[in-house]
Amino acid sequence: MPLPVTPTFADIAEAGDDAALLAATGRIALVLPGDGRLSGAARRLDRRMRGAIGRALAGKSWAALKPGEALDLGYPSGLQAEAVQLVKLARRASQAEARKAGAAIGKALGEAGAVVLAAGQAKVAEIALGLVLRAYDFARHKTAEAKPKGAVTILTDKAEAARAAAAPLLAMAEGVCLTRDLVNEPANVLTTTEFAERLVAMTALGLKVEVLDEPALAALGMRALLGVGQGSESPTKVVVMEWPGGAKDEAPFALVGKGVVFDTGGISIKPAAGMEEMTMDMGGAGVVAGTMMALALRKARANVVGIVGLVENMPDGRAQRPGDIVKSMKGDTIEVINTDAEGRLVLADILWYAQDRFKPAGMINLATLTGAIIIGLGHDHAGVFSNDDRLCNAFLKAAAAEGEGAWRLPMGPGYDALIKSRLADMKNTGGRPAGAITAAQFLRRFVRDEVPWIHLDIAGVALPPKETDLAPKGATGWGVMALDRLIRDREAG
Ligand code: BES
Ligand code: MN
Ligand code: ZN
Repeated sequence: MPLPVTPTFADIAEAGDDAALLAATGRIALVLPGDGRLSGAARRLDRRMRGAIGRALAGKSWAALKPGEALDLGYPSGLQAEAVQLVKLARRASQAEARKAGAAIGKALGEAGAVVLAAGQAKVAEIALGLVLRAYDFARHKTAEAKPKGAVTILTDKAEAARAAAAPLLAMAEGVCLTRDLVNEPANVLTTTEFAERLVAMTALGLKVEVLDEPALAALGMRALLGVGQGSESPTKVVVMEWPGGAKDEAPFALVGKGVVFDTGGISIKPAAGMEEMTMDMGGAGVVAGTMMALALRKARANVVGIVGLVENMPDGRAQRPGDIVKSMKGDTIEVINTDAEGRLVLADILWYAQDRFKPAGMINLATLTGAIIIGLGHDHAGVFSNDDRLCNAFLKAAAAEGEGAWRLPMGPGYDALIKSRLADMKNTGGRPAGAITAAQFLRRFVRDEVPWIHLDIAGVALPPKETDLAPKGATGWGVMALDRLIRDREAG
């Protein structure tokens, strides 16, 4: 696998002479304040275009644009470029507006690349981030459109400072794009083995990566996890990624992800309509992988361990049945009422393993866990469940700062009654009421009370039905930016 993955970004350079703009054969984007005033290079371009920019800025279309939106002037006379894109952005733009402006440029980007003039703009790094994220395109299986998007150069006046500010954000973007690649990839390509290999490739970034195979998992007693993969030809694997960027004696922060590479439901098989979407059921593991990549690329000063359970849920003569009782690594027994509630079985064992082996200072798990969270929150917010207000509030703050929707839902012993089993310590489904909460309540049984923990149910946000501000239709990589920011905030204090 080629590392890193974002294809489009070339450089941030000083906006000195106009050579780059005049030589551009792709697109030119001008980031301009709403007041319609032009300065420096923009004014000189306007002269070459015989005042076309000035006329556009005086028109109604420009006036109607919101911050971060853009309009196109096609095949400008006097220039070689395909188009000049006018992007509206106040000099004192918010972070979100600056990312949106970058996204407008990224969305329009083609094979021939772009030169972006963002002189007088303070938030050049945020523009670069939005650009890279929105230029992302998962075209590797389209034989006719396999051409990558062209390179982008951003011209600004404090290039050195902007480049330094952009570096950690572009590291984060690499992580987001890795997550998207993994989530978009179909299950015949991204098998458990292929997934593990892509994670092992990240050792090139300085991560320590270890793969546990089925015999190792059996020896650890991970029967809940192994039961899920029992009907698949693809071997179940757990991958442990360590980023030792912090102090030697400091307990790591643990990120744990559900990596069901395909979820048919198993013997409790899902209906045919829409089942193809279940190729995204490894989304939690994808976010863990993307976050670990971001941390490694920006050389985070933190100890973080990422653990993913890679498994395929298939119906088969050897598959797990409804009614089976499995023993978890913790020792608790679980009655499998519905083989389609497999994510919590995967997480039960790897959550326990994470605590047992690493004694983490805090732990966050991510999973495309329930359809119920989509009924409750739709596609704008992930469900947040926690046993610790402090960690939870820190996460909610980080998510809000990164523009990633997250909403806390309640937990409580009252919900435990719904997962009481007649035959075992618990059952794996609680019926229709509060489906996302009973799933969280199930996971909590595998978390020690003293470990601050968050469960993120990302079923609605990992692969929403429409494009978003910063992502084309398809996988979003939701969570990488919030987690990276949370860890950065912990580094700071
Ligand atoms: N992977 C699904 C949840 C899901 C649904 C993710 C839609 C993304 C989009 C999960 O394994 C599942 O099947 N959950 C069941 C649980 C039920 C059987 C208790 C569900 O939500 O229907
Ligand atoms: Mn399922
Ligand atoms: Zn699932």
